[in-house]
Amino acid sequence: MGSLLNHPLFKLIRGEHLSLLEMATTPKESLSISELSKKMTEHHHNEEQYLFSLLNTKPRVCEGGPMCTYFFDAHITSPPLKIAEDLTKIAPIIPHSMNEFWTNKSPLRIPSSEHIALKHILEFSVGENLQKNFNTFQEILRNNIKKEEECLFHICSRLLTKTELDTLFNSWRGSS
Ligand SMILES: [Fe+2]
Repeated sequence: MGSLLNHPLFKLIRGEHLSLLEMATTPKESLSISELSKKMTEHHHNEEQYLFSLLNTKPRVCEGGPMCTYFFDAHITSPPLKIAEDLTKIAPIIPHSMNEFWTNKSPLRIPSSEHIALKHILEFSVGENLQKNFNTFQEILRNNIKKEEECLFHICSRLLTKTELDTLFNSWRGSS
């Protein structure tokens, strides 16, 4: 069963994670925030629309796994939406498309709230504030990616079938 972790879908997502991390660590002078924001939003949209929505239909998604407990605790002690609000002095809004994760009290609220916080920080930090807030942005991005690769991928490989992963992979590829 563990071999599903080698599915091309995870390879595709890892590749996108790597390029986001690279973009977010390029020297600030040559970094295009709008390009980073565009790539990141596309990536998060695919995760939410394809992966999270399907996972959220599986009751066992709440079981998590050993690494997930660690990440869950970190999420409680440093809530990304609160961090984004403190940095920008504007409260982030949960998009309608993500309501299902909140009403079900799904653990998918964790990566989803990181997605919202990351977009919010880029969108509402202007001028000097962007420089000031960018380290926190990088930290949330790194944590989000680590969490998805070390916890979420494992949950997916346990709860989704090869056919479901194949379908997700094809939809994801077709979207780019
Ligand atoms: Fe991701």
